[in-house]
Amino acid sequence: MAVYLNGAFMPVEEAQVSVLDRGFLFGDGVYEVIPVYAGKPMRLQEHLQRLQQSLNATHLDVTEDWAVLIADLIELNGGGDLSVYLQVTRGADARRDHALPESIFPTIFMMATPFTPVQDLEVVTGIKAVTVEDNRWLRCFIKSICLQPNVLLKQQANEAGAQDAILVRDGVVTEAAAANVFVIKDKVVYTAPKNDLILAGITRDLVLELVRDAGLEYREEAPSLSMLENANEIWVTSSTREIVPVIELDGKPVANGKIGPLWYNVMQQYQVFKQQLIAG
Ligand code: PDD
Repeated sequence: MAVYLNGAFMPVEEAQVSVLDRGFLFGDGVYEVIPVYAGKPMRLQEHLQRLQQSLNATHLDVTEDWAVLIADLIELNGGGDLSVYLQVTRGADARRDHALPESIFPTIFMMATPFTPVQDLEVVTGIKAVTVEDNRWLRCFIKSICLQPNVLLKQQANEAGAQDAILVRDGVVTEAAAANVFVIKDKVVYTAPKNDLILAGITRDLVLELVRDAGLEYREEAPSLSMLENANEIWVTSSTREIVPVIELDGKPVANGKIGPLWYNVMQQYQVFKQQLIAG
């Protein structure tokens, strides 16, 4: 696997970062995950805009020709279906001072790992999820590498025998441990609004577009816990997982416990969108 580190491409075994890196010591950095289908990054500009937003919010003054670097990384890794991981940290500083150093030498790292996109909707089985208290910080719009809260919430779900955690703050659904959440109730599609309490998923926006194009009604309103418990369908969405149907919530079936019709409808449109991207 070829990776990019601070100006050069190299085999992953050769990539080295200082133990004084503020990303290592403080989790002081931001990241992006970009899906690539048949060598083509999906919604690249949107991912780069969100990266810029995360950089601005964390005072990381870094400019790169991201699109060119990503294209080179994809090519060096043979194209195909990949997940590009991009991380920027504030770099090494021997003082280990919480306050920001005056000048920085950021660490810029990128890797591309193979991923298996959904192709055949008939083999998708749906997942179990549990509700957990969203105890993260209040700046979730930043795609921060400080993911320990998300890691622990996901672990909580796994220990409860589920594959994902649906996060609830003040009685309403924010998102999942590493995905956005959609709740379908009485043919209306609900998802939390873009604010500081969620990461504004690029997949979330695409799914809303597909929902709209399919003529379905949708509202950017955080679903209440009771709406979630009585949902007709629940989906979680992310760049690497596309749209995943949740068929069991807190040990009870979601509706009849089978994948719902709107998931098939929107997921088919998602497949068409991917094919159009590949076809160029
Ligand atoms: N995570 N919310 C959170 C907390 C996330 O971590 C993610 C994605 C999303 C969905 O965003 P997008 O649709 O842009 O992928 C929402 C990535 C995939 C990760 O951490 O690996």
